[in-house]
Amino acid sequence: MYPRKTNLARQRTRLPDRDSALCLTPGGEGSWLSVTAPLGKPDQKGFAGRRLVVTGGAGFIGSHLAHRLAALGAHVAVIDDLSSGSRENLPADLAGFFKADIRDRPTLGRVFSEFRPEIVFHQAAQISVSVSVREPAHDASINIMGLLNILEECIVHGVSRFVFASSGGTLYGEVSDRPARERDPLIPKSPYGIAKQASEGYLDFFSREHGLESVSLRYANVYGPRQDPQGEAGVVAIFSNLLLSGQAPTIFGDGSQVRDYIHVADVVEANIAAALAAEVSAAYNIGTGVGTDVNTLYAKVTKALGAKVTPIYGPARPGDLQRSILDATKAAAELGWTPSIALDEGIKDAVDWFSQRP
Ligand SMILES: NC(=O)c1ccc[n+]([C@@H]2O[C@H](COP(=O)([O-])OP(=O)(O)OC[C@H]3O[C@@H](n4cnc5c(N)ncnc54)[C@H](O)[C@@H]3O)[C@@H](O)[C@H]2O)c1
Repeated sequence: MYPRKTNLARQRTRLPDRDSALCLTPGGEGSWLSVTAPLGKPDQKGFAGRRLVVTGGAGFIGSHLAHRLAALGAHVAVIDDLSSGSRENLPADLAGFFKADIRDRPTLGRVFSEFRPEIVFHQAAQISVSVSVREPAHDASINIMGLLNILEECIVHGVSRFVFASSGGTLYGEVSDRPARERDPLIPKSPYGIAKQASEGYLDFFSREHGLESVSLRYANVYGPRQDPQGEAGVVAIFSNLLLSGQAPTIFGDGSQVRDYIHVADVVEANIAAALAAEVSAAYNIGTGVGTDVNTLYAKVTKALGAKVTPIYGPARPGDLQRSILDATKAAAELGWTPSIALDEGIKDAVDWFSQRP
């Protein structure tokens, strides 16, 4: 079985006091904070001294990525407007934190001029499918126009590789007989999924037209410490949070819906593999290939918490797929990436973190 890699609960850090000494220019919203930290970490993967940007690095996945890259000795800058992310998620040894909205092109221009990144990991996004359904233009303003702003800055400033957070769960339709493969038809139903598909198309265009090396990682259902329990999709976080506060979670439908749950640390390693691979081709599924139904997941979370609470069953949500599992053999073959954290271990890691939260 998969060996346990890290106890991510231990990675919860707060910015140190020197945060208060960061240079703030200019004041107010849309401004940025930056600091250059002395870094002298061992170079385990060839990242030491390299200048990397993580957009959305104050969020769930982006912050784990920023922590890991900083620990590998990279100069990591985060661009995030803190709309859903938190400063507390950031690693202490960031080379820069830029509080900026990716829709604000002039500010992005200043950030890229100042920091001069070599590789950009684009995690910033409006991540709610239901918000995208209610407000498609708002979703597109961040998830398409924001992406284009970043891509254009990458061209202007000579970024060598762009790693994009796409979504396997919303791009493929119902694939009932086997895990979905990259070459399966893309039939996104929501504006969120449509924006991810469009983004992949833009990456292809920027690659052909401008020579920007880019790669899309189509994540399965990511879970782990720091996931927002108020979100609509992170069921491990939602179940843990409700159970810890003594409430019974609601399962929509009969709980037989199957999903592919992948621990955030494995997603981080996939980003690293995609950044370092000699060659990349378009899109890769990042999942375990293993399906787990919601009832089984609920049982695992309650077991990890030592809780005995019967869930409430509510009406099925319209548009929810019955089955979403990703075949990641292409990532294994071309990026040398395979997931390494078993679901029971990953759930324990996440549940431990939620249990220790103030
Ligand atoms: N969590 C999952 O299961 C999952 C699955 C598939 C794809 N993804 C993708 O992975 C990426 C990261 O998702 P996450 O779960 O960490 O979400 P998250 O909400 O925790 O992180 C997103 C971050 O982006 C920032 N952000 C949002 N709008 C911004 C803007 N206009 N300008 C600058 N920053 C902005 C937020 O403040 C937040 O810190 C997203 O692109 C998401 O679509 C996530």
